[in-house]
Amino acid sequence: MHKTGTAWWQHGIVYQIYPRSFQDSDGDGIGDLPGIMDRLDHLVELGVDAVWLSPIYPSPMADFGYDVADFTGIDPIFGTQEQFDALVAEVHRRGLKLILDFVPNHTSDRHPWFEEARRSRDSARRDWYIWRDPAPDGGPPNNWLSNFGGSAWEFDAGTGQYYYHAFLKEQPDLNWRNPAVREAMYDALRSWMARGVDGFRVDVIWHLIKDDQFRNNPISPGWTPGMDPFHRLVPLYTADRPEVQDVVREMRSVIDEYDDRVLIGEIYLPLERLMAYYGVDLAGAHMPFNFQLIDAPWHARTLEGLIGDYEGALPPGGWPNWVLGNHDKPRIASRVGPAQARVAAMLLLTLRGTPTLYYGDELGMENSPIRPDQVRDPFEKNVPGKGLGRDPQRTPMQWSAAPNAGFTTGRPWLPIPGNFREVNVEAQSGDAGSMLSLYRALVALRRSEAALSIGSYEPVSADGDLLVFQRVSAGDRFAVALNLGPTPARVDLPDRFAGGRVRLSTHLDRSEALRGTTVELRGDEGVIVVPAAP
Ligand code: GLC
Ligand code: MG
Repeated sequence: MHKTGTAWWQHGIVYQIYPRSFQDSDGDGIGDLPGIMDRLDHLVELGVDAVWLSPIYPSPMADFGYDVADFTGIDPIFGTQEQFDALVAEVHRRGLKLILDFVPNHTSDRHPWFEEARRSRDSARRDWYIWRDPAPDGGPPNNWLSNFGGSAWEFDAGTGQYYYHAFLKEQPDLNWRNPAVREAMYDALRSWMARGVDGFRVDVIWHLIKDDQFRNNPISPGWTPGMDPFHRLVPLYTADRPEVQDVVREMRSVIDEYDDRVLIGEIYLPLERLMAYYGVDLAGAHMPFNFQLIDAPWHARTLEGLIGDYEGALPPGGWPNWVLGNHDKPRIASRVGPAQARVAAMLLLTLRGTPTLYYGDELGMENSPIRPDQVRDPFEKNVPGKGLGRDPQRTPMQWSAAPNAGFTTGRPWLPIPGNFREVNVEAQSGDAGSMLSLYRALVALRRSEAALSIGSYEPVSADGDLLVFQRVSAGDRFAVALNLGPTPARVDLPDRFAGGRVRLSTHLDRSEALRGTTVELRGDEGVIVVPAAP
């Protein structure tokens, strides 16, 4: 416990690394564990508390590591078991925590479990996966769709049945109704925790259980052919089934066998359903990921509404969290533009609840254009041309103006964005007005002020493009005023800020005292204001 009485994952900040793209150490063009080890200084200077690594397990890389062939191994592309243990030790020595991605919904089709399961209908592991007979016409057993395009059923000629895969056909879904599957997966969690891992981000946790009657999913009314083909159906019978709550509760009890670990769930669901994943009596996930800032239109009134709704919907004692970007979604700087990306940074780092930062967003990295011959993401290959591909947000971290942005001495697995000579850690470290300087200042302020990390959230009424709120704890009070539009605007803060002072601006160039309670914002500017000293 911290001096504030909160756990590390409550007052801390999480930083997501996509290992293939962070730092390559051996010139194969793919980031790896020694590379991450070499770059820990960056995380310490940034001031984050925990590192979440996207999957590093042995994998054929059909979905770049989200197709796991061994839940307790390390893929040689990323390094060795010894290098992993060394990384855990070094992360801890620097006072950081390490969170692993855990991918329980499916395995690789090359996992020994699946190879055994598909050998015959009588295989001892047959029931570890989800098999069904063909429909009478020989086609798939029902209408369930893959998230990555096409039917979710793949015919296995050898045994004459179909298996279910919510993602690629190379990612057969495990049967979480089978207690043996659960035990094997829980043992994998235990083995990582025994090695010092501080918690898990659980991949698609709301998918783990599917309808036991295999009912067809209903047609989605608003869908048109230009849209993501997966959304043609409502995934009523394939995700968020009531029984998944038992699995989440069990998983949490495994996590609780070890001290001070965290369970984070990847969940894309509407607010009311999201809240269910905290579990009855908070015995579920510590933090069901809150992706609303990723999905919402960037308008002050929309954001004000969703923040209020989220705060209001949390179960008593449920800890909030906010995510601005990840390896599956367009980068924030591309979504809202470079100027608003600074406002977004201030919002993320002043909201109540644990923030998760996506690597490179602290530089304002943008989605990078990917030529057809450079596409790597299987989603783009399966459903081309709809802008669903995730390569643009997975390009290598931009460290310096050196060749390949300092990422690799070889040929990078995804192209280096054209702006790397200006947008990189080295250049921005030496620039007091840079995005990186803003992130460092915001993180430092949040770390030093309990009101900003764990204080209460109090909205302040505002209109137009203005989003205004207070953060309050034990006599400390901050006002956050954000201008989400390009036009200058005047904000009237509550009386207690009369004669207060600008503590930080997204422009990093002002710290003046207020005249009265009024603060003038430039276009695309956000400020944090403190009251006058008593
Ligand atoms: C999650 C991951 C995504 C992956 C999918 C299948 O949504 O974030 O990258 O493709 O699960 O594992
Ligand atoms: Mg490498």
